[in-house]
Amino acid sequence: MTKLEAKNLQVSFGNVAVITGLNLSIPEGSITALMGPSGSGKSTLLRVFNRLIELYPEAHVGGYVYLDGQDIFEIDVIELRRRVQMIFQIPNPIPNLSIFENVALGLKLNRLAKNRKELYQRVKTALEKAQLWDEVKDRLNAPAGKLSGGQQQRLCVARSLAFEPEVLLADEPTANLDPENTAKIEALLLDLKKEMTIVLVTHFPQQAARISDYVAFLYKGQIVERGPTKDIFTKPRHELTEKYVTGRLY
Ligand SMILES: Nc1ncnc2c1ncn2[C@@H]1O[C@H](COP(=O)(O)OP(=O)(O)OP(=O)(O)O)[C@@H](O)[C@H]1O
Ligand SMILES: [Mg+2]
Repeated sequence: MTKLEAKNLQVSFGNVAVITGLNLSIPEGSITALMGPSGSGKSTLLRVFNRLIELYPEAHVGGYVYLDGQDIFEIDVIELRRRVQMIFQIPNPIPNLSIFENVALGLKLNRLAKNRKELYQRVKTALEKAQLWDEVKDRLNAPAGKLSGGQQQRLCVARSLAFEPEVLLADEPTANLDPENTAKIEALLLDLKKEMTIVLVTHFPQQAARISDYVAFLYKGQIVERGPTKDIFTKPRHELTEKYVTGRLY
């Protein structure tokens, strides 16, 4: 089943075209790694998937993106962003807000919990799924800014999971983490794909090889090649892909 599908997608900033007729389908319940040189349009593509792109007044979007076959531009944007969550390269919890409130805030603002008990339960479940609960359960009222970088990233994952999303977009989520915290995030993503579809932007071919099911290789705003991860690494069809996975293209 296809979860997300881009058809002839075009994005420009002012009159500079950065995504130029991109086609991509993302299978449900899998991890698709998006790889490609800096500036190829990876982050821009993720920002289209949850329509964060609309926060950039100079951005123009053409073509189509479908979520479960439905045009995302016809879905209420708040609803779309609840269903399609995103985490970023630099963990961005609200540092002065408590660990608990960082996860609870979105649920409160969107009235997604009926009462305090349900709110607590949803926050707890999200922290458990993000594999952070055991480390923070005794200090839920401490400011999020006191957590380590790796813990802050897992807190951001928990904040996303609290919305019970169908898609998780992760834009280089381990770029600022040490190997131990990177391994934790990778294990977490592998676990989460049982219940959601994940699109992972990564600059580390080894990371894509370790945890992704499919790789899509982007170059200058187009998908050059997409396929099962193993095929992309062992028998890439396109010269650019081969160069990239062997570390000869940046
Ligand atoms: N707000 C913006 N205004 C103008 N140009 C932009 C804007 N955001 C991105 N771009 C341009 O669009 C192109 C694609 O950028 P994008 O951030 O999607 O690349 P990327 O593949 O994520 O790169 P990186 O690997 O460095 O994160 C780049 O040329 C970038 O300069
Ligand atoms: Mg980027």
